Amino acid sequence: MGHSPLLFVVAGAALSYILYTRITLYLARQRFKKENGCQPCMAQFHKDPILGLDVVKVMSYNSKQHITLQENRKHFQKLGNTFHSRIIATPLIATCEPENIKTILSLKFKDYGFGHRQPAFTPLLGHGIFNAEGERWANSRHLLRPNFARDQIADLDAFERHVKWMLKHIPRDGSTVDLQALFFRLTIDTATEFLFNHSTNSLRTVGQDEENNEDAIFSQAFNFALDDITIRARNGPLDRFRKNEEGEQAIKICHAYIEKFVDDALRFREELDAEKMAGSAENEKYYFIQEVAKQTTDKKRIREELINILLAGRDTTASLLSNMFFEIAQKPHIYAKLRDEVATLGGRTPTYEELRNLKYLKWCMNESLRTHPVVPINSRIAVRDTVLPRGGGPSGQAPLFVPKDTMVGYFIHVMHRRYDIYGDDADEYRPERWESLRPGWEYLPFNGGPRICLGQQYALTEAGYVTVRLVQEFALMESRDPEEWSEGLTLTLCSLNGVKVGLTPA
Ligand code: HEM
Repeated sequence: MGHSPLLFVVAGAALSYILYTRITLYLARQRFKKENGCQPCMAQFHKDPILGLDVVKVMSYNSKQHITLQENRKHFQKLGNTFHSRIIATPLIATCEPENIKTILSLKFKDYGFGHRQPAFTPLLGHGIFNAEGERWANSRHLLRPNFARDQIADLDAFERHVKWMLKHIPRDGSTVDLQALFFRLTIDTATEFLFNHSTNSLRTVGQDEENNEDAIFSQAFNFALDDITIRARNGPLDRFRKNEEGEQAIKICHAYIEKFVDDALRFREELDAEKMAGSAENEKYYFIQEVAKQTTDKKRIREELINILLAGRDTTASLLSNMFFEIAQKPHIYAKLRDEVATLGGRTPTYEELRNLKYLKWCMNESLRTHPVVPINSRIAVRDTVLPRGGGPSGQAPLFVPKDTMVGYFIHVMHRRYDIYGDDADEYRPERWESLRPGWEYLPFNGGPRICLGQQYALTEAGYVTVRLVQEFALMESRDPEEWSEGLTLTLCSLNGVKVGLTPA
């Protein structure tokens, strides 16, 4: 009992300390808000103020029904362009305001991070560019960026080889084919060739026994691991209690497959170094993996960077093509206009320059990325107290205080369909609108600021090339989708039921 007074003193001191820090923080925040002219956000989505369980319930229902995007839009229409919410105790600010998105991604880039997505991404991706922050990220970006220069991404011959295989799978008697399934095979074949200097060639094995084919096993494991990331992200901290042997196995297969190519690249580097010493090194053809291996010999590092780019680049381009052809197949006049433009090539395959000059093609791709942005929802976490320029006060036009550890979700799909930005026909797929449209931050399919997509030109070159070749080979395209487009939303957005069309040869 003799210790009691001391205990009281310690407890009292601790309590005073907590009170003191709380009060100082409160006062500092009041001052910060005043200095920045912040006003409180009047719109609130959640009803459960502590855990936001009602939000989780709504999100999970919408996701199961494949109506996440349309429902999000309704919330914004009801609550305004910026509102407060809460997901399992994490405070959330949701916004579809271009000025806010510019602030998060560019003006106050350093005030935000995405540590929240790392537990779901790290098992497959390690600490590669897509999953890294701070110095490590800057270093990855510096390492990889030169590989996206024009000369590297303009290898249209490689695209042509794979497109030829794809064309073989399109019936010429007008019977129905799912283009989306072919696009996903095409982009894993081209991306693996670009990155590893070895293609999965999955288009060559369509319909064959893929059980003993290493490349096919990898493709399947990679698809599985990607879907699994979405589940990991959705479960959050609870995921550690899930038994997931198949997911772990898929990741192992992916890593082992890529490491073989890393070994090859490092061997190549040793040979090159030896040749250089002997003065006999020649200018080799460019290969992505070999260029990375010239910068670092860290095997794990190379593997991690490559798998990150495969993730960033594969589903995205396939989804752009799928979403675009879903729309075009339903609008024969757009297909006809594309054919007219492509006819200027006189039946030849295009050069890189010619491809870039096809204006209507570019409009079609821009418009698809507007109505169906491949990354429709994204988020960051505030790493310090900060401020957004919009969302405060009754009009939502005043600055808004963002406390440290708040998640800020930015809703590209909702922004791309705002009537006040794109007009009353914002929901309509109409490439012609790009004749006069010059949007800034209100159009953001590839992100903006220091972490803007590295593969934008690569993606547009590939999608453009594939489109030209399809349009050259087929005079007509008819939609065979029995229903409207519905969302297939995992990490990226494609069509839930594929893209079923019938084609008439030219
Ligand atoms: C239509 C196709 C594509 C779209 C819409 C797209 C979109 C995006 C978006 C929104 C981000 C930002 C993600 C974030 O920070 O949260 C991103 C990042 C990235 N993208 Fe793309 N992407 C596409 C194709 C590609 C391709 C083909 C490649 C590579 C071959 C690629 C490589 C990357 C990389 C490396 C990053 C990470 C950049 C960084 O964090 O510094 N992307 N992309």
